[in-house]
Amino acid sequence: MPSQLVDVRSDTVTRPTPGMLEAMMGAPVGDDVLGEDETVNALQREAAELFDKEAALFCPSGTMTNQIGIKVHTRPGDEVICHELAHVYLYEGGGIASNSGASVRLLKGGNGRFTAEQVKESINRRDDAHLPWTRVVAVEDTVNKGGGCCWDLGEIERIRAVCTEHGLALHLDGARLFNALVARSEAPRDYGRLFDTISVCLSKGLGAPAGSLLLGSRELIGRGHRYRKVMGGGMRQAGYLAAAGRYALKNNVERLQQDHARAKLLEAELRSLPYVESVLPVETNIVILNLNESVSAETFLQKLRERGVLASQMGPRAIRFVFHLDVSDTQVEILLKALREA
Ligand SMILES: Cc1ncc(COP(=O)(O)O)c(C=O)c1O
Repeated sequence: MPSQLVDVRSDTVTRPTPGMLEAMMGAPVGDDVLGEDETVNALQREAAELFDKEAALFCPSGTMTNQIGIKVHTRPGDEVICHELAHVYLYEGGGIASNSGASVRLLKGGNGRFTAEQVKESINRRDDAHLPWTRVVAVEDTVNKGGGCCWDLGEIERIRAVCTEHGLALHLDGARLFNALVARSEAPRDYGRLFDTISVCLSKGLGAPAGSLLLGSRELIGRGHRYRKVMGGGMRQAGYLAAAGRYALKNNVERLQQDHARAKLLEAELRSLPYVESVLPVETNIVILNLNESVSAETFLQKLRERGVLASQMGPRAIRFVFHLDVSDTQVEILLKALREA
């Protein structure tokens, strides 16, 4: 096995670069629970400006920013509309139920994307006492389980119109929103104007060691600030982490294009391999393939591991590769070679 593993299990495995570490070490910090950490305050101010929102809240994780985002829009007994592949539903430990006491209406199709029409059909009537009140629609962009696919901004605009008409809030799980922005040449403000709350992660493709931001109105973020404390997410000298986030937003956004180009290269290679049943269309840094009957997911992952590559399993026959800033050109070569040999 090669000494240095090619770790493409996720874009969360990155380590801070020397430049990022330097920015972290030199950051002025204070007690952020008291609102006195000037680096956290600067990050929150800059992010809010970027998305043209009134306020932002720095949290330890994307799970927390999503969960707070949903909590500020709901009361126990309300209902959240999201896709059946959504991270907020599948991978946040049942947090919608335990943190917000809300039920979930799941939509299907579109590799994790849905239409305004589907939303409209799923809104419960408020004059029927049997039904939970639909309160919020949650969109995920890019869609992790959808192979990193991006939403069409026009569809989001139509969903926004349905939400406005029916008095619903619109939340975005934008863990990898910057990948979508770079892939589609769109601006953060395009999203800021459509969503009531947006969660973005600094710790995925952007390469920070931890941290996510929740964006919204002053009123919503004010309430979110309290829930962050209740959930145990009030950090003290968090400016060291916020400095990594500021560095990432300045230096690591445009380079996401490189991850996308590599993912497309991998997609092309996979389509020519005999054990591959299908590959989800690649738009950003995630590649998901389905294996045919010739090999099991466990055996395939083991074969890759023996050749120095770590990938992850996303379903009975689905394998995921995610590109990020710790993958070098040489490692891309090792990955392609391992796939040809596997
Ligand atoms: C789409 C999506 N949303 C939210 C999260 C949660 O982020 P975190 O791991 O920081 O809690 C992830 C994590 O992988 C994700 O892929």
